[in-house]
Amino acid sequence: MSSDQATAPAVVIPDVTPVQLAVVESVAPHLRHNPYDSYETLRTAGPFVPGPHDTHLVPRHAEAQAILLDPRWSHAEEPELLHGDSEVELPGSFLWMEPPDHTRLRGLVGKAFTARTIIGLQARAEQLVDELLTRILAAGEVDLLEALAYPVPLTLICELLGVPVEAHEQVRFMSAGIARGLDPDVLLSPEELAARTAAVHEFTEFFGDLVDQRRRTPRADLITALVQAEEAGVRLTHTELIGTLLILVVAGHETSVNLIGNGVLALMRHPGEFQRLRQDPELAAPAVDEVLRYDAPVHLTTRTARAEIMVAGRTFVPGDAVIVLLGSANRDPAAFPEPDRFDIRRYRPGRRAERHLSFGLGLHYCLGAPLARLEMREILHALALRVENLTLLEEPPYRPNVVVRGMSELLVRVEGR
Ligand code: HEM
Repeated sequence: MSSDQATAPAVVIPDVTPVQLAVVESVAPHLRHNPYDSYETLRTAGPFVPGPHDTHLVPRHAEAQAILLDPRWSHAEEPELLHGDSEVELPGSFLWMEPPDHTRLRGLVGKAFTARTIIGLQARAEQLVDELLTRILAAGEVDLLEALAYPVPLTLICELLGVPVEAHEQVRFMSAGIARGLDPDVLLSPEELAARTAAVHEFTEFFGDLVDQRRRTPRADLITALVQAEEAGVRLTHTELIGTLLILVVAGHETSVNLIGNGVLALMRHPGEFQRLRQDPELAAPAVDEVLRYDAPVHLTTRTARAEIMVAGRTFVPGDAVIVLLGSANRDPAAFPEPDRFDIRRYRPGRRAERHLSFGLGLHYCLGAPLARLEMREILHALALRVENLTLLEEPPYRPNVVVRGMSELLVRVEGR
């Protein structure tokens, strides 16, 4: 032993409690295949668990719901909270705004993105799913993410917006770079941060050109509708338009991909439930909500107190930040009986089930929920009618993404009826 080693101070490894470990593991990029065990530890620890950077994690349903429904909690600080030191800001979207700006922008977008728009997509969604499933059945073994989960939402959102077909793949890759970058910056490598910067620049340029084209030559598409949308004589500025398109593309596509992947995986892991769906394809609609609850595509959001607010006996003061764990709230036994059971009849009409938080709640409730539900319903319906057996070929790997969580590959064998 050298004299240096003999005199070196002993390394002290601090005691790490199971709860502290669960805090780290609940957002650890390499543990994305199962964050649910750490969520359980957090829920057991209490309604608020100290998290990183003076935040508090909110793992239970009751407090998560109360915070999301209370407009005194702001979402405007999230970019600063999660991406404070970034050199590139994500273009401002109303997802990160408060009234009155939020109300104005969401209202303008709502004028273009109406329930009628979504109903109008039903036939196209059905046709697209049918075509893709025919190809999948002919191939037999596929990566279901490539063959179904990506093309359905990507094609629909691109067609809705009016993105030319030859650019759909480019949109997919820009959007993936941005979605990865939604995770807190501390979890991103320098390469991933650089990729986000590049993706944001590419997105801004690509959609900036399309917006200019639609200004000159309007068409029957959502970009034109957004360019023309007007509230009391006021239209979206160019920056607001790009921010809105970014959220429609990224939030509207990366999330749905994971909903589809998670749903097919859940059916394969629960063959009895797939059998039930095949016997009654009308269960497709309630099954969508059970997939959303059971394996949420978006796992967390943040809020910052704008006033002194009391929740579950704890007082928060202005500036206090919380991380609302949506994926954990959805598995809270205080809200859902047998929360770890995948039960496609849980949300059947006539049955009372607590609402899941997968689309958020309150002011920022997901604007695209009807579109996401439509896509997944059509897919489940088609699987129920046309597929005899769905077999998982390999344990799926997960992407490191924490906020928008999902698999990177889903190898399956699909046998027709
Ligand atoms: C399964 C699919 C989807 C999931 C799980 C999902 C989830 C969410 C969640 C959790 C929020 C609220 C975030 C918060 O409160 O912090 C949200 C907001 C939003 N989502 Fe979705 N989303 C999905 C699909 C879509 C689609 C298809 C679109 C549009 C094409 C979309 C557009 C939006 C927009 C614009 C907002 C912001 C609303 C606002 O701030 O007022 N989403 N989404």
